[in-house]
Amino acid sequence: MTTWLVTGGAGFIGGNFVLEAIADGIRVVNLDVLTYAGNLDTLASLQGNPAHVFVEGDIGDRDLVARLLAEHRPDAVINFAAESHVDRSIDGPGAFVQTNVVGTLVLLEAVRDYWKSLEGGARDAFRFLHVSTDEVYGSLGDSGKFVETTPYAPNSPYSASKAASDHLVRAFHHTYGLPVLTTNCSNNYGPYQFPEKLIPLVIAKAIAGEPLPIYGDGMNVRDWLYVGDHCSAIRAVLAGGRVGETYNVGGNAERPNIEVVNVICALLDERRPREDGQPRSSQITYVKDRPGHDRRYAIDASKLESELGWTPAHSFEQGIADTVDWYLDNQPWVQRVLDGSYRLERIGATV
Ligand SMILES: NC(=O)c1ccc[n+]([C@@H]2O[C@H](COP(=O)([O-])OP(=O)(O)OC[C@H]3O[C@@H](n4cnc5c(N)ncnc54)[C@H](O)[C@@H]3O)[C@@H](O)[C@H]2O)c1
Repeated sequence: MTTWLVTGGAGFIGGNFVLEAIADGIRVVNLDVLTYAGNLDTLASLQGNPAHVFVEGDIGDRDLVARLLAEHRPDAVINFAAESHVDRSIDGPGAFVQTNVVGTLVLLEAVRDYWKSLEGGARDAFRFLHVSTDEVYGSLGDSGKFVETTPYAPNSPYSASKAASDHLVRAFHHTYGLPVLTTNCSNNYGPYQFPEKLIPLVIAKAIAGEPLPIYGDGMNVRDWLYVGDHCSAIRAVLAGGRVGETYNVGGNAERPNIEVVNVICALLDERRPREDGQPRSSQITYVKDRPGHDRRYAIDASKLESELGWTPAHSFEQGIADTVDWYLDNQPWVQRVLDGSYRLERIGATV
């Protein structure tokens, strides 16, 4: 039976990835320190399933990681664990350096030593896959797209820490020969996303009848990638990606933020009209822009398509409709998340 060590598998993307991997017959050792963003509710359906071994712990704990590798002998390590929210990195960059840079380094060292101890086919087949972001490339003007060779130009403490981790992963391949793969993807959306990010935040506030905050003029453009498509891209890279290479992953769905919010409002108006009959777009309010807000990201994922035949299966229209339906159908999950310390307040606007 194939075994993967997945880090950050109680988070949004990692959680979706773990659920799918286990459904496909893979055994997963899931290492997650359970920050505010880690949520075991997402994995509730795996309770009692011997194919899922959950370990609460830090990727920066070298002894723990070494022990898990020695005990479970994984065929691959997939690193999702990170501090992931740009606004939080503005208020507190230190935690981002600690987990995303120092933590990734410690993880890499432990994995390198484990990989060296493998022999023959197991050593040849082993992979370390690092999940990263298109934000490492900085901001685009009105045209152009990020390709894998676009120079790194991170603009936020979050993207700077992810860029540093990408460089460490690259260096561990060139210096020690560790068989690494890196994916740089655009903005994910879909089930189980913590409601501080744009799409689940807007859905939650729209349902609650609260103002829908739009940063700046709402014309910042992101490419939107359905989380299930991201997971399938990672699986494709893991199975067939060339060692040492990086692969961009995108959803072919560039949209200005204001358009995303208007689509969500229209979907909610159809499915759950406001009692006073007013459109939910009337809740939109423009707020002070995020400091250093990148204007536009766009991804060219043609390398992934030409080398591995991967394209996103969801159009934005389909993915966003499915996502709105998921949040409407899973309000208890959202409510339990909101029982914690985070209550949809604005963060990262203080500079
Ligand atoms: N969400 C996106 O749109 C997006 C886009 C591009 C790249 N990414 C990258 O994908 C990965 C997953 O993102 P996400 O949105 O699922 O993030 P998330 O914040 O929802 O989840 C991160 C998970 O990592 C865990 N974690 C944090 N620090 C840890 C540590 N030191 N040790 C072990 N576990 C730790 C958290 O508890 C949480 O479960 C991240 O590396 C992120 O940079 C995300």
